[in-house]
Amino acid sequence: MNRPKISLIGAGNVGATVAQFMALKELGDLYLFDVVDGVPEGKGLDIAEGSPHWGTDSRIVGFTTKDDSVYANLKGSELIVVTAGLARKPGMSRDDLLGKNVEIISGVAKQIKKYAPDAVVIVVTNPADIMAYALQKVSGIKPEKIMGLGGSLDSSRFRTFLAMELNVSVEDVNAFVIGGHGDDMVPFIRYSNVAGIPIEKLLSKEKIDAIVNRTRGGGGEIVNYLKTGSAYFAPGVSITAMAESVIKDKKRVIPSAAYLTGSHAKHYGADNIFIGLPVKIGKDGIEQIYDLDFTPEEMVLWKNTTKSVIENCRKVDEFLAKGH
Ligand code: LAC
Repeated sequence: MNRPKISLIGAGNVGATVAQFMALKELGDLYLFDVVDGVPEGKGLDIAEGSPHWGTDSRIVGFTTKDDSVYANLKGSELIVVTAGLARKPGMSRDDLLGKNVEIISGVAKQIKKYAPDAVVIVVTNPADIMAYALQKVSGIKPEKIMGLGGSLDSSRFRTFLAMELNVSVEDVNAFVIGGHGDDMVPFIRYSNVAGIPIEKLLSKEKIDAIVNRTRGGGGEIVNYLKTGSAYFAPGVSITAMAESVIKDKKRVIPSAAYLTGSHAKHYGADNIFIGLPVKIGKDGIEQIYDLDFTPEEMVLWKNTTKSVIENCRKVDEFLAKGH
């Protein structure tokens, strides 16, 4: 059986959880990479040893990236998920990670460019919009083949909190979050509904505001509980949903960080950045960006989230201009 090859760069909590979920779904053969000696081999083998119970024949192998030549094993990857980098500790924002993680991502981007320039890449390392931007600039891969994790996870949290408050099935809650995957992300109330019923008809403004704030701080809430790192179960399944849409060419519409240029840049009022937008995901990556119209209040929120993403992308430009 010729299964799609999926590579996971970073086999920490998020990378390993994604590997487990992908193996459960038998999405492909999984290649785990990590700098920490033995971790990708050990976690890969551990997941593989559960295969008989899970009923999966996905092959799972790990590679410690002792030197860059190990990345030759990326060759032939249809999809690459990048989680390598530092995670947040309590009191840190995702943006606090930018300096260190941009160096790591720039190194990874060079290897992807060398060995798997045709792969679709999902960037998870935070701040994810900015790291997607850095990875694209360094690798030179077609921007539509690169997407950042954001709305898939944030919308999952938003839907969960709405379902909890309304005591309805999560399956009937449709809602999405756009903008940067940061504290000023935009949970989109006007497009949120329960089986088609607008949430504004079901919940008071105060309740909605509280859920919006909890969603914005959703990642931080988990960091504060865990204290030693950030979330990985909800991120893991949110990434797997995006990956499944690529591998099976499902063309799901999942908000993700996408590259803004041309007419979409004009529509959204920001150019040459990656930011969370409603997009269609298929085998070629981001196959369509949907242009949303904003009310004046929504426009204020949108401008606010783009402002910080633009500032951070320009920091990446400065970093890269120094010859990294
Ligand atoms: C979170 C991290 C993955 O939101 O950004 O939990």
